[in-house]
Amino acid sequence: MSQRVDLFYNTYSNFTEQVLAAIREETFGRDIGQNSWLTADEYDRFISWLRLEPGQHVLEVASGSGGPARYVAEQTKCYVTGIDANENGVETATQSLSGSSLSDRINFRVADANAKLPFEDNTLDAVMCIDSMNHFPDRLHVFREWQRILRPGRRAVFTDPVVITGPVTNDELALRSLVGLFLFVPPGVNEQLIERAGFRLVKQQDVTANAALVSGRWRDARQRHKDALIQIEGEERFEGLQKFFGAVHNLTSERRLSRIVYLVEKPV
Ligand SMILES: C[S@@+](CC[C@H](N)C(=O)[O-])C[C@H]1O[C@@H](n2cnc3c(N)ncnc32)[C@H](O)[C@@H]1O
Repeated sequence: MSQRVDLFYNTYSNFTEQVLAAIREETFGRDIGQNSWLTADEYDRFISWLRLEPGQHVLEVASGSGGPARYVAEQTKCYVTGIDANENGVETATQSLSGSSLSDRINFRVADANAKLPFEDNTLDAVMCIDSMNHFPDRLHVFREWQRILRPGRRAVFTDPVVITGPVTNDELALRSLVGLFLFVPPGVNEQLIERAGFRLVKQQDVTANAALVSGRWRDARQRHKDALIQIEGEERFEGLQKFFGAVHNLTSERRLSRIVYLVEKPV
């Protein structure tokens, strides 16, 4: 197996570096602090599917540096809790709230999405989880937890960025999963598990094109800022990550790995 390259720890601990902000701007256009294949226009669409009202409580699972969670709180006037297993991510996210009026409505905490979630039954109005489901090995358990904590009639939206939809070599799989634990599934598995967990699948959409676009831009922006990046991450990690972004771009452009968004609802 290829040696893993750390993406999250290094990225989150340097998140506010100017060069990383410039790369995010060049990659995403609108930088909402995301560390995924998500663009703001896409996120607006996902948020609208949740039918949120001001004052409701949203859980962002794998909230990363906290940018998307802050965005949800701003757009919807909801309370948002973000959980992530990465302490640096949670620290960066928490610091980003200092002095902000949003700090009354957002809370970030370290938690493992694979474990029992720190919420009572039937207490949340929505769950969001962007490009992170592939890091949770027991997906059925994760869905059951979301089902447990959501109020009846409420919804969860998540993307799975690595659905296997074409021939992929072992080297490509190794490169794609260079940044941590990965679970790859074929089409149909998410749908089955969603149902087994007691959710109703409201809709699913192929959002692979966004991953192809973002990964290509990200790799190219990083290449343009190579010298500054090597100061932060070192040459070996820089090259490893360039290969990673290149693999994501090829696999998604050729539709051999697809990124699918799912909207699910807990029955009343
Ligand atoms: C691709 S990033 C996405 C972050 C964020 N959702 C975004 O769109 O910017 C994946 C995130 O999953 C988190 N993660 C990985 N395993 C996790 C786990 N077991 N529990 C909670 N978070 C986890 C990582 O720390 C990382 O922040």
